[in-house]
Amino acid sequence: LSPDEWLETSGGPRYVRLRQRLEQGIEDGVLPPNSSLPPEREIADITGLSRATVRKAIQELVKQGAIVQRQGSGSFVRDAAPRLEQSLSHLTSFTEDMRHRGMETSSKWLERGVFLPSTEEIEVLGLPADGQVARICRLREAGGRPMAVERASLPLDILPNPLAVRESLYDLLGESGSRPVRAIQKISAVNLAEEDATLLGVAEGVAGLSIQRISYLESGRVAEFTRSNYRGDAYDFVAELRLTP
Ligand code: GLP
Repeated sequence: LSPDEWLETSGGPRYVRLRQRLEQGIEDGVLPPNSSLPPEREIADITGLSRATVRKAIQELVKQGAIVQRQGSGSFVRDAAPRLEQSLSHLTSFTEDMRHRGMETSSKWLERGVFLPSTEEIEVLGLPADGQVARICRLREAGGRPMAVERASLPLDILPNPLAVRESLYDLLGESGSRPVRAIQKISAVNLAEEDATLLGVAEGVAGLSIQRISYLESGRVAEFTRSNYRGDAYDFVAELRLTP
């Protein structure tokens, strides 16, 4: 586009307009995954915008995760994320699911400890009103890519020390004989709010999947109440359906 044409595109600050054009290019495939962006100077020349404006637009795309910068080699359009197929028929943990695919997992801890329970936690976990709850909140990553923000609450006697969770909650529960054996899972569409969107490397308000799991011990007791917000573009959930005899 010529400098004049740039200015004719929809209103708003110039860096926003440039960002939107680049986003459009990524979406249309004009800038395919892994392709390199021209240097800032070149974009500034083509568009007639200042280098500061170009830098600002690119920085926004970096923050959103659409562009990655590699030291010394410039800016690239992010790799297309392969969608993972996740079966809905088995009670598996995030770590097991990823291990199964040969993917390394990692977590960024957002919060963990012992807290006064919310009304919802009291109800779902069947806690005494004056009791406490163990909470672990983390950003779950696989293959270095953010996948889900997970907030889990458990009764204290099932998870007495939230700090003891290393990578896998279920592995730790298994060690103490309280690995859940059954769960009810609910999947809902969400627009990711700012905090989770930022953690997941997407723009605020984009589509995500919220998965709520209430899992049970062999005895029938509730072991876990977890809400996970998944990137909408990272997963396909698959269930096998059979005709009822
Ligand atoms: C999945 C479930 C969560 C469960 C978690 C345990 O992500 N949705 O409800 O808490 O697995 O995973 P891990 O054992 O890797 O901590």
